[in-house]
Amino acid sequence: MRLIIYTGKGGVGKTSVSAATARLLAKKGYRTIIMSTDSAHSLSDSLGITLPNDIQNVEENLDALEIDIIHEMRTRWADISHYISALMISQGMGEITAEEMAIIPGMEMVAALFYVLSFEEEDRYDVVVMDTPPTGETLRLLSFPDMSNWYIDKVYALMKRFIGLARVTVGKFMDFPLPDKAVMNSIEEMKNRMNKVKAVLENPQKTTVRLVLNPERMVISETMRAYTYICLYNKNVECLIVNKIYPKEDLSDSDFFREKLKEQDKHLRQIDDAFSELKIMNAYQMSTELVGPEKLDLMAEMIFGDSDPIEVYANESPMRFLTVDDIDEMRLKMPFVKKSSIELFKGESGTLVVHVGSQKRTVSLPATLMDAEVLGAELSDEELIVKLKRQNANTKDRRKV
Ligand SMILES: Nc1ncnc2c1ncn2[C@@H]1O[C@H](COP(=O)(O)OP(=O)(O)O)[C@@H](O)[C@H]1O
Ligand SMILES: [Mg+2]
Repeated sequence: MRLIIYTGKGGVGKTSVSAATARLLAKKGYRTIIMSTDSAHSLSDSLGITLPNDIQNVEENLDALEIDIIHEMRTRWADISHYISALMISQGMGEITAEEMAIIPGMEMVAALFYVLSFEEEDRYDVVVMDTPPTGETLRLLSFPDMSNWYIDKVYALMKRFIGLARVTVGKFMDFPLPDKAVMNSIEEMKNRMNKVKAVLENPQKTTVRLVLNPERMVISETMRAYTYICLYNKNVECLIVNKIYPKEDLSDSDFFREKLKEQDKHLRQIDDAFSELKIMNAYQMSTELVGPEKLDLMAEMIFGDSDPIEVYANESPMRFLTVDDIDEMRLKMPFVKKSSIELFKGESGTLVVHVGSQKRTVSLPATLMDAEVLGAELSDEELIVKLKRQNANTKDRRKV
């Protein structure tokens, strides 16, 4: 099963490109589902249909799902919802609704990832196209070194917050009900499933991230940062879709648009230079509103022409380990990064912690390198190279690059 994740700044055209891609895949005969994890829910508008909160067949080979986290809380995550409710009641705070629990950021993405895993296990689809909320949210999800732990932490943080609230309200700390077996089981289950999700996401032949952008200065900058961070989280970014390009022919007869086109050309060149290693595809600005099947199909044709969107355009993981002359190396692709913005630490029990700009990732080293000594690190050709020497003694040094 292929998973194609579109990401980019708000308004660049992620939902439109996702819907267009999914329609083309379905027409080619792949069992396809398009999933939206954006609570803004514009997928139904884009497709020109109403979607319920469950999987809906749209046409032959094409299903669609807009994740409704409140519905998910009431159904798939009922045990946990019940527990948190019981907790609230015990604190004299009344019941907490699924609506109130649904405010935890990133929950749609988490729910979507659980779906992805069940589709993979059931062999239900050939390809899942995922439309996401604006970049920050997607990065947040990819940024957690261990998503299962992240999820558990979220639940506990939420509980702690409620307990804190209860303290203020009731004036003194009160006992709270211990989670029952069903709850503990579903937390445990979630943890297991998240680890499996992680494996799917980091398989570069299966999961690929596609960046969507417009030829505008600020959008380009944000996309460059996103590319760096997605590499940091070891997801395969293989392709870039430049959307909303003004067609030259139509517009060049006024001064206003001549200026606009000059600027656009500059930005298009900048995109070509910056992202030269990605497959770059273009979609032009349409003169009428881009909604409904016909327009989406036009868009798919502009982007993919005769090529097949299921293709993996480049299937390398950003991170790899190799051994050169007895020295082990961890190599991590780090486009657009200056040496001064990278910090590297040896973390606990066989991990390396890499900070880049505002993001951080904890890399688990392979078993053979658990106790390796960090000899040094360098940035070469947009690649972070960390040299490691295997040894038996425990090294607990924290090294900064
Ligand atoms: N190539 C295009 N031509 C014309 N309108 C477009 C094009 N791409 C996107 N749009 C319009 O721009 C708006 C934002 O697109 P959308 O796909 O919802 O972006 P995102 O999901 O990234 O926020 C929508 O109104 C959409 O119809
Ligand atoms: Mg959208």
